[in-house]
Amino acid sequence: MMNEVMKTILHRRSFRRFEDRQIEESALQEILQAGLYAPSAGGRQSVIFAVCQDREVNERLGKIKRANSHPRMATATSYVSKEQPSIADDPKLLNAFYDAPTVITLFAPKNFLFSVDDCAVAAENMMLMADSLGIGSCYIGQGWMAFADSYGQDVLRQWEIPVTHYAVMQLILGYPREEDRHPSAKPRKERRVLRF
Ligand SMILES: Cc1cc2nc3c(=O)[nH]c(=O)nc-3n(C[C@H](O)[C@H](O)[C@H](O)COP(=O)(O)O)c2cc1C
Repeated sequence: MMNEVMKTILHRRSFRRFEDRQIEESALQEILQAGLYAPSAGGRQSVIFAVCQDREVNERLGKIKRANSHPRMATATSYVSKEQPSIADDPKLLNAFYDAPTVITLFAPKNFLFSVDDCAVAAENMMLMADSLGIGSCYIGQGWMAFADSYGQDVLRQWEIPVTHYAVMQLILGYPREEDRHPSAKPRKERRVLRF
């Protein structure tokens, strides 16, 4: 019988298509708990998790992020996902948060060497927890680009994000659509493990 953690690791995929309904509050709490208990460099726990479930705000920030992104467009042989297309796969997608009902921005200190690492490990904990609760998630990199205009700057002030922190990335969450099947993983590239 396969270990439960391994089952979740193998089952987790990135989702970019979601049902309209909001995720359960109890599930959100568990996902946040998974992030709060992630390792952090020096045990400093400096990541701030800003949860936004306001659809209008999420849409506006996602569109700012998309407008500031210059994704390399997919080709027949090079693509991100055929089942859950990304903005690099489909130029018609105008929202870099894919209309997800919940968007969590992870902020971390600007002058700290391990800010990105801290956010990435917290995000992975949260994505695995989300998967185990039947919630789809996707890691969205370069989080600061969502705040790269005056509207974004207003949101940062409204959220009272300390000026010492910047948006490292977003984690988007929502229920997978019933009509979509669970995405498959691309085959793993070979010769990535070296043994000595
Ligand atoms: C650091 C990082 C940044 C990512 N940024 C984005 C992004 O901006 N937009 C997006 O749609 N997916 C993003 N992804 C998700 C990847 O595209 C996805 O993990 C990859 O295609 C593998 O698919 P899987 O997660 O289903 O295994 C990011 C993933 C990582 C680890």
